[in-house]
Amino acid sequence: MPLKNKVAIVTGGNTGIGKAIVLELAKHGVNIVIDYVTHPEATDALEQKVAALGDKCIGIDADVSKVPDLEKLIGAAVAKFGRLDIFVNNAGIETRTSVLDTTEDQYDAVMNINLKSAFFATQLAAKQMISQGDGGRIINITSVHEDWPMPGNTAYCLSKGGMRMLTRTAGVELAPHNILIVGVGPGAIETPINTSTMDDPAKLKKLDAAIPLGRMAKPEEIATVVSFLAGDGASYMTATSVIVDGGLMQSSPGL
Ligand code: BGC
Repeated sequence: MPLKNKVAIVTGGNTGIGKAIVLELAKHGVNIVIDYVTHPEATDALEQKVAALGDKCIGIDADVSKVPDLEKLIGAAVAKFGRLDIFVNNAGIETRTSVLDTTEDQYDAVMNINLKSAFFATQLAAKQMISQGDGGRIINITSVHEDWPMPGNTAYCLSKGGMRMLTRTAGVELAPHNILIVGVGPGAIETPINTSTMDDPAKLKKLDAAIPLGRMAKPEEIATVVSFLAGDGASYMTATSVIVDGGLMQSSPGL
């Protein structure tokens, strides 16, 4: 499907990888709905940037971990743009806490924002797409940690592992409706989630050394993969993940 005039929802779209995805999809002529719980001003600024690209973007006050708010997001896309073609489950948080010191509140926050939101967004987006009758795309932004342990970030890894299986299982379930579901697993990306690493030269040096390409990625380097997956060129990809990590998961200490 050519992306021009398609309608997308990108959760967590006003910062980090989500913001880059919004701008990349807008470049291709997609109309976009994003949510915000905090930073309405960042959403306003982004709406204006997207409008300057000739496309439309609206921000909706919605907490993606709540099902009625997800319904509100989809309702807004349909009310404003008439349909929904692409849903990007991008919103995510991490606590950087181990299995020994993660509190119940931290666990709930990570699982609800990362995994519960992706599950119910998939359910609701799929129902809307099925009612339209011509398929759709759901793209789950996971992490290399959908399949690779990050000691000291256990709940996060759990949530991303869950998204990996959501992608696979729902991808199989929804294939008869031509709803294609693919996960994108970024490695280390220059976004606010990684500020503590980027601000610490010793930590950053260690991280860069572990990445075969020798550097963190820009959010735009993930966004271009997402726009490919949303478009015609990815018409035979579903129930799988694309890892975009500069080789990080395969790096070897040189045995
Ligand atoms: C995590 C980061 C981590 C990166 C690479 C991301 O999913 O959010 O904290 O640096 O993976 O390990």
